Amino acid sequence: MWRAIDILINNAGISYRSTVEHMDDESEVHQLSVNYLAPMALIRLVIPSMRERGFGKIINVSSVSGMVAMPTMASYSASKHALEGATEALWYELHPFDISVSLIQPGFIHSNSFNKIYFSKKAKLSQDIDGPYADYYRNMGPWIARIMEKSMATPESISKKIIGLCNMTRLPLWVPVSIDSWIFHIIRKIIPRNFFHRFMRLFLPHGTKWGGRFRKAEKDSALVDLKRSTNRDEALPH
Ligand SMILES: NC(=O)c1ccc[n+]([C@@H]2O[C@H](COP(=O)([O-])OP(=O)(O)OC[C@H]3O[C@@H](n4cnc5c(N)ncnc54)[C@H](OP(=O)(O)O)[C@@H]3O)[C@@H](O)[C@H]2O)c1
Repeated sequence: MWRAIDILINNAGISYRSTVEHMDDESEVHQLSVNYLAPMALIRLVIPSMRERGFGKIINVSSVSGMVAMPTMASYSASKHALEGATEALWYELHPFDISVSLIQPGFIHSNSFNKIYFSKKAKLSQDIDGPYADYYRNMGPWIARIMEKSMATPESISKKIIGLCNMTRLPLWVPVSIDSWIFHIIRKIIPRNFFHRFMRLFLPHGTKWGGRFRKAEKDSALVDLKRSTNRDEALPH
């Protein structure tokens, strides 16, 4: 028998680690289906009965990646930005009917979800070979793993905050739930958008150098050096 739903929590999520160039259509659809399309489908299912009863809470678990994008996480970031955009629109649409909507924004969580990362086919192949994005793959994974390991936020601490929200009468729209997400929230407000990513790049381990050896100018000068040394060798008496 159909029973009315008071609270919908959209928590399920997956994360691809791949540069934009290495993603493929199938992986993009998978990423967006779980993190964005499925929450939207569930929301559409519960709205009518919540609206009729004049009561309901919808809690969407987003991420710091819904505020800021990071290299190799484009598709994940896009899915969380989409979730944030739609939830903000929902806030207006559902406000008159006393249905609250909220975006939980965890930062890095001390959990083993790091082991459940998905890779597109090309991203998987690129892990072991040297290529234009090799520095990104080699650095981003261990960097994120280190931060997750040091994070004080745990799945349990985030769950407690979500339960706390369930007991509130009106939910705030944005809820940063870990120290790093608060920091990003504030930095995003203070630093002008034009400078933000230049500033963030400095925090990635040697981030300003990634991919540099594959830059066209670098490759051209390496070719010139190679030609010069070959010509010199040929000019030498044998
Ligand atoms: N971990 C972090 O550092 C972090 C940071 C910011 C935000 N978040 C967000 O927090 C949420 C929970 O993440 P987590 O770290 O707890 O991840 P997790 O441990 O990997 O759990 C993900 C959950 O999503 C479910 N799921 C995955 N694909 C599904 C599908 N196709 N259909 C139904 N359920 C599916 C999984 O179910 P099964 O176990 O049955 O597969 C699992 O219960 C996600 O939305 C994530 O984006 C996580």
